[in-house]
Amino acid sequence: MKRILVTGAAGQIGSELVPALRRTYGDDAVLATDVKPPTGTLAEGGPAAVLDCTDAAAVARAVAEHRADAVFHLAAILSAKAEHAPQKAWGINVGCLFNVLEVAREAGCALFVPSSIAAFGPSTPADPAPQDTLQRPTSMYGVTKVTGELLCDYYAARFGVDARGVRYPGLISYSAPPGGGTTDWAVDIFHKAVADGRYTCFLSADTQLDMMYMPDAVRAAMELMEADPERLAHRNAFNVTAMQLTPARLTAEIRRHLPGFTIDYEVDPVRQRIAESWPRSIDDSAARREWGWQPRYDMASLVADMIEHVGGQAAAHADARDGRRPVPA
Ligand SMILES: NC(=O)c1ccc[n+]([C@@H]2O[C@H](COP(=O)([O-])OP(=O)(O)OC[C@H]3O[C@@H](n4cnc5c(N)ncnc54)[C@H](O)[C@@H]3O)[C@@H](O)[C@H]2O)c1
Repeated sequence: MKRILVTGAAGQIGSELVPALRRTYGDDAVLATDVKPPTGTLAEGGPAAVLDCTDAAAVARAVAEHRADAVFHLAAILSAKAEHAPQKAWGINVGCLFNVLEVAREAGCALFVPSSIAAFGPSTPADPAPQDTLQRPTSMYGVTKVTGELLCDYYAARFGVDARGVRYPGLISYSAPPGGGTTDWAVDIFHKAVADGRYTCFLSADTQLDMMYMPDAVRAAMELMEADPERLAHRNAFNVTAMQLTPARLTAEIRRHLPGFTIDYEVDPVRQRIAESWPRSIDDSAARREWGWQPRYDMASLVADMIEHVGGQAAAHADARDGRRPVPA
């Protein structure tokens, strides 16, 4: 990879992936694009543009003008939002991917496409879900994610497109807000713990899902794209994980830093149903074997880092409110 285009760059993953790619490949080599105008470090740290991936011609133009040889395709609608707008979710999650795959085929680009643990369903073995297994998801988001995995495999086998991807678990980060997924609680909980000392959770206390800290997620994408293709038996949709969390377990760890923190529960039936259709854990041994995947953050180190950064952001905002320093970006 020398010149990279990122779609959906203004979202939770793109906000951290773009700076990491720029550090490795050079600021000018990484074009950050999104349907909403990229702002802040995305726009200031290198080239940035508005790009709606439903417009196939615009995607082709952007790839050609940037002379991209790799695309990280992050534009998507996440699980909870997709359940409220299933037709729109299909149009964006599948339609945009189809456009990007066609451009990758014509321009000879490598392509990174994230799938999700949502590509599994209630009939998948749940603890752990194997790499190669039954996939009959019951959410619209999951349906689009399985479709995406199959499309990427098809373009790789049929047209030789170097499409690669991982099945991300829930991702936890502090740089950008989460995009409307079922695991958003595991981000929101930190902001509420720091700001209010209490949090109302939309999943029940013992709902267990795989999770990962964003620096590991960013590194997974970059390492997979740099992996020796000879070693990749799977290529697309590698299970990757770092830890299994429940709201109760994460609360106990946060209390080690903020002893007064309290949680209560108001279960949202839509998101609880989605969560219960996903595995309780996933087996990522194929990723470990084929390209050396290894997470660096466990629950304890993730919580310590999140509290430090979210606490720092809250202090900076309080200072800005009181006129002691400018409003943070
Ligand atoms: N965040 C997670 O926990 C998680 C977990 C598993 C998989 N994933 C996958 O990773 C990818 C990125 O997720 P994210 O968390 O950054 O999502 P996000 O919702 O935070 O960001 C998605 C971005 O796509 C943009 N977008 C929407 N429609 C677009 C269009 N037509 N053209 C261009 N851009 C468009 C949005 O403006 C947004 O900035 C998605 O494929 C998602 O399914 C995310």
